[in-house]
Amino acid sequence: MIGRGLARIGLYLLMSLIPLSAVQAEPILIAHRGASGERPEHTLAAYERAIDQGADFIEPDLVLTKDGVLVARHENEIGGTTDVADHPEFADRKTSKTIDGVAMTGWFTEDFTLAELRTLRARERLPDVRPANRRFDDLYPIATFEEILKLVRAKEAEAGRRIGLYPETKHPSYFAGIGLPHQAALLDLLGRYGYQIEADPVFIQSFEVGNLKALRAASRLRLIQLVDAEGGPADLPGTTYADMLTVQGLTDIATYADGVGPSAALIIAPEGPTALVGRAHDAGLQVHVWTLRMENIFLPAQYQRADDPQGRGDFASWVRAIAATGVDGVFSDFPGQVKAALESVR
Ligand code: G3P
Ligand code: CA
Repeated sequence: MIGRGLARIGLYLLMSLIPLSAVQAEPILIAHRGASGERPEHTLAAYERAIDQGADFIEPDLVLTKDGVLVARHENEIGGTTDVADHPEFADRKTSKTIDGVAMTGWFTEDFTLAELRTLRARERLPDVRPANRRFDDLYPIATFEEILKLVRAKEAEAGRRIGLYPETKHPSYFAGIGLPHQAALLDLLGRYGYQIEADPVFIQSFEVGNLKALRAASRLRLIQLVDAEGGPADLPGTTYADMLTVQGLTDIATYADGVGPSAALIIAPEGPTALVGRAHDAGLQVHVWTLRMENIFLPAQYQRADDPQGRGDFASWVRAIAATGVDGVFSDFPGQVKAALESVR
């Protein structure tokens, strides 16, 4: 048993040393919440930095305002990533809600008009892990999805290349339940900016299932079913992501999506690469893995360096090990560093 484990680890280390060009096409590079390791996430500054660093796609997580505008935030509760608590005029908006079964207290985008939200400024989500990014606190407003589309259009003209969009519907059932569904606003905006067919550089992603099936019925844009190592989709109580990653589960996903988006732990377990990439490819699905981060606290033990949890580990080796599994895409907070790691083995 131990011998087999060691052999697997040896194979996996060897794979990380083989030039990528010798084994496969390079995975697409998706800037997770922009270059969020270097700028407050989901700001235009974070997206622009990611594009300048060579990201193929930028990733906005999308929630809605009270007046139905799509804005880029990882969650609808904005106390942790904005200066809203410092705005006395919004003190009475602080409230408690249960979202997808999780009770929370704070300020929620659906209780603010866009005009009100625009008076807020973004802040670093992880100030203890990324203290250098605090210098960007309170500089940038919350970005609308339309502003992101305009930024992409301008940067494409500047760079002379296509830049993809990888929007995620956040809490889609919850938002639909309060009369603020994502779908119409999302497809309308994408359509107005010229994104309509499978060949367009867009992937729409969700941890839920129902909204992806509805999107498939309404659009030919590519769809990605997000999955995690634990739990299951909020809109299908009783179904687990583990169920969805069996051969039958992947076959079912292939009826409405073009790929799966698993967490890194589902691709490389402590004992080595899992069989998921091969199983998903056999089902005709792409595999886009999240989220590659440089700091020790986010890295598997063998890639951690030094004792400082704020310090950075051997990120390049982690990136190469992930790429060597044959994944088709990687999400990262540090797109520039991923690009450097992949280029160094070409
Ligand atoms: O969308 C891929 C990855 O971003 C999923 O996790 O929580 O960062 O949106 P999260
Ligand atoms: Ca996301």
